[in-house]
Amino acid sequence: MIANNGNESKGDDNEEYETTDRRRRMAFLDSLLSEHFRNSEFTEEDIREEVDTFMFEGHDTTSMAISWTLHLIGLNPDIQDKCHQELDAVLNASADDWVGERRMISMNELREMKYLEACIKEALRLYPSVPFVGRHLNEDTTINGYAVPAGVTCLVFLYQVHRDPQCFPQPEVYRPERFLDNSHMTRHPFAFVPFSAGARNCIGQKFALLEEKTILATILRNYTIKSLDHTDVIKIAPELVIRPKTPIRMQFTPRL
Ligand code: HEM
Repeated sequence: MIANNGNESKGDDNEEYETTDRRRRMAFLDSLLSEHFRNSEFTEEDIREEVDTFMFEGHDTTSMAISWTLHLIGLNPDIQDKCHQELDAVLNASADDWVGERRMISMNELREMKYLEACIKEALRLYPSVPFVGRHLNEDTTINGYAVPAGVTCLVFLYQVHRDPQCFPQPEVYRPERFLDNSHMTRHPFAFVPFSAGARNCIGQKFALLEEKTILATILRNYTIKSLDHTDVIKIAPELVIRPKTPIRMQFTPRL
């Protein structure tokens, strides 16, 4: 068993954004342009491809993950209560960071939102934004006793991997506590891989979680949400990103 599934190896390091020496960090597009001017083999077409990849990988994935998390929290009032309690405790602890009418959420506060993070992970377990990943085999291998020859493309169906009852008892139940109790310490490192694993895992995973937390915290601190349809009636479209075939209907009531 491998102790680390590689998921922590890539992505933004939060600490770097909070560095006090204010080292200059290049924006993504600046990095691509500077590489283009340094190395003429890295063409404008290559820049465009990189930008396309980030736009596709970075937008649809996160927006769908936020939608499914809202849907699941909106079906579970007890879970939503815990989110509200956590947000009230974290955000009322200090009264600073106001910009005009808006109270900004700091990096430290995002880190303290452990329950919200568990809600996001549990939603990614049930609805991994990227439901399957593909790999081209360069050499023969054996999987579960079956010989798989080099040259074939293997698809790993993350949607199903995340529903293994041995790792996640009652797999269809939305239970964020799975990511808070000790069970996640003993679980197989590849049992939960919404960002894939290994050398080509998601480069934006830490950013994605921060983005999701920021948006969900902003919604939930201000609203009580209710899902108008049960999960059973929402059909999933078989696409590269897991999305509902019909709109997810929700009701938002301002919190007093
Ligand atoms: C909830 C949000 C997200 C999920 C679930 C997700 C999931 C994934 C998965 C499963 C892969 C691997 C595909 C494979 O193994 O073939 C991947 C790759 C990638 N992701 Fe994400 N992603 C998310 C957000 C983001 C964001 C916000 C960005 C950028 C800002 C991003 C950038 C990328 C890139 C560039 C790759 C390709 C990495 C490579 O090939 O080395 N993703 N993502």
